[in-house]
Amino acid sequence: MHKELEPAILYFGTPVVLVTTLNEDGTANIAPISSIWWLSWSCMIGLDASSKTTENLLRTGECVLNMASDQQVESVNRLAKTTGRHKLPLHKKALGYKYEANKFLAAGLTEQKSMTVKPPRIEECPVQLEAKLVNKMPFGEHDPKMAVPSVAFELSVEKVHLDELILKDPNKPYVDPDKWHPLIMNFRKFYSTGSYIHESKLAKGAEAQYAPWKQKGLKRKLTEWILARNTKRYKDAVHRLDSKS
Ligand SMILES: Cc1cc2nc3c(=O)[nH]c(=O)nc-3n(C[C@H](O)[C@H](O)[C@H](O)COP(=O)(O)O)c2cc1C
Repeated sequence: MHKELEPAILYFGTPVVLVTTLNEDGTANIAPISSIWWLSWSCMIGLDASSKTTENLLRTGECVLNMASDQQVESVNRLAKTTGRHKLPLHKKALGYKYEANKFLAAGLTEQKSMTVKPPRIEECPVQLEAKLVNKMPFGEHDPKMAVPSVAFELSVEKVHLDELILKDPNKPYVDPDKWHPLIMNFRKFYSTGSYIHESKLAKGAEAQYAPWKQKGLKRKLTEWILARNTKRYKDAVHRLDSKS
């Protein structure tokens, strides 16, 4: 029997990502977040507007999304309730947050140079996505339950770095979900993925069918033409959304 209820939070289970950004003085900040999702190589993240990461992203337009696996859970927990913002906002003070100037040291993590952005990657994280800011908007402004002002950031993924230990084959760009166990935040507690449980209709066929941009030459041109022709009315509908806002 379902009950109509009002839970305080709706954190049903999303991956934990350590966002690295650059502070004004050139040092790096790290923030654990779990409000994140992807479509293709575009990504949305949701941030408390008072976080140092929000300030850094707005100023620099760059970050790295370092995805934690079950192996990084202790480091993530060391970063919990810390902020790189020297002057703590009142709501964070009330929740017991502390200022932390050196999050890499505090978490026992290692900086690794990025290729397309200035913020460093986190060496220990098996997945590192270098990303640039594309769009931003206030989030949940009309939600009376939203405790603090929040921002949604659209990011474009510029470079993907994958530890070969999570790949199906070390020479191919396919992640093996039996080897990749993302850290999941589920109602404030940490979990990870378990074992494979069921055959998946969605997983039938080559993964590359989701990436027409990987095709070459004439085949690519033809696919692009067919896609453009068949998706035109949806594209028009999306543009109409834009002009209404
Ligand atoms: C597992 C976990 C998930 C979190 N998810 C989010 C999130 O999605 N968005 C957010 O704004 N803060 C989230 N937080 C809280 C931030 O880490 C917190 O606001 C932190 O102070 C940000 O650091 P900064 O101020 O140095 O940027 C999460 C914290 C933890 C430990």
